Amino acid sequence: MKLDPWGAVDITDYSKLFDEFGIAPFETIISEISNPHLYMRRQIIFGHRGYQTILEAMRNKTPFAVMSGFMPSGRIHLGHKMVMDEMIWHQQMGAHAFFAVADMEAYSVRNISWKKCVEIGINEYVLSLIALGFESNGRIYFQSKNPLVKDLAFELGMKTNLSEMGAIYGFPGETHVSHMLSTLIQSADILQPQLAEYSGPKPVVIPVGADQDPHIRLTRDIASRMRMFKVEPRECYISVRARAANKAAMRAIADRMEGKTRLYAEHLDIYDNDDMTVIESIVREVEIEHGGCGFYQPASTYHRFMSGLTGGKMSSSNPNSIIALTESPDVAAAKIKKAKTGGRITLAEQRRFGGEPQKCTVYELLMFHLLEDDEQLAEIFEKCRDGGRTCGKCKALAVELMSSFLKEHQEKRELAKERLDEFGLKI
Ligand code: TRP
Ligand code: SF4
Repeated sequence: MKLDPWGAVDITDYSKLFDEFGIAPFETIISEISNPHLYMRRQIIFGHRGYQTILEAMRNKTPFAVMSGFMPSGRIHLGHKMVMDEMIWHQQMGAHAFFAVADMEAYSVRNISWKKCVEIGINEYVLSLIALGFESNGRIYFQSKNPLVKDLAFELGMKTNLSEMGAIYGFPGETHVSHMLSTLIQSADILQPQLAEYSGPKPVVIPVGADQDPHIRLTRDIASRMRMFKVEPRECYISVRARAANKAAMRAIADRMEGKTRLYAEHLDIYDNDDMTVIESIVREVEIEHGGCGFYQPASTYHRFMSGLTGGKMSSSNPNSIIALTESPDVAAAKIKKAKTGGRITLAEQRRFGGEPQKCTVYELLMFHLLEDDEQLAEIFEKCRDGGRTCGKCKALAVELMSSFLKEHQEKRELAKERLDEFGLKI
């Protein structure tokens, strides 16, 4: 197996995602980003769907959006921070940002009361989001308080059915309908930034962990099914096909098109013009004029998960496996001191055989969250493998950096309490 400083977590589990599910590798497009985020540089973001639309928008300075959200179900920890960092990075790149507190999902799937949803949603997630740098031109909302999302979910429901939901989510017959509805609400979260209220269709990226991919795939499909027209390149022409016949709209497309066109009852063939971008934008424009939605398929990025500090998965039900963003620095330090490393049993063995940073949760902390400097990180990796570094040293470094991060973050959370009204929220 190839080892490199950014490959600290075994990525073999993820290769299935490329082959079986058609997630595209992020590595091959990273050179198109002028100042990639640390997660991109270090291949923590390893895959994407449709991110070209976002690259294009960033390049051409045309509108785009970033959207993600969480169920308000427990303490906010470093895993959530990753999504938030990615959202904020895109916001800084010019994206209109949307953050959903998925209270309808938490209520219907996890039985969390509405009152608790507000408490946890604000005190855990929203305060940290703002503290991490979410800017006030972004939108933070609770699903249950958002009529646009609820209305859209109802419409999207016409584009899927029970057997599809069952196939994607594995719902057995007993699953109640509101649980199923919450998946449509999530699709509506994802498509909301493209509504006329937010000035219409635009590329949107959803940064998520790979576990959320089923939602993304369904929503991409639903977005296409909502379209009036489908544009497809053929051998020697481009075809615009109507999903629901609309003669007037089809004629309007033909009238605006450069090149030779042939108009049929349900499709239009375009010759001598292979500019897909222009064709797509004309079709979208006409579609909107005729009452359609013109949605882009939402794009997504996928990041690897950090391991829990105790080895295995990070899970709120095992408090020692996570570091909460509200944790006191002392408690965090104690967790780091007990964390599973890739060190050998004795110091002598460590010197002789070297450590295994690729299996080390302390190294992961440094790589994912604490060390900005790529060179310093690579140096630690090399030294560890050569047996020239002790785990004590890494732990001390991680404790120091984590304490200062937590202190600063928690101060910013206090300041964020005073800023909730900028987002139309209150405690
Ligand atoms: N389902 C997500 C979770 O389990 C929460 C969520 C709701 C979400 N709406 C979303 C995630 C839109 C990404 C995009 O936490
Ligand atoms: Fe991990 Fe550092 Fe120990 Fe290597 S020396 S195993 S990187 S803690």
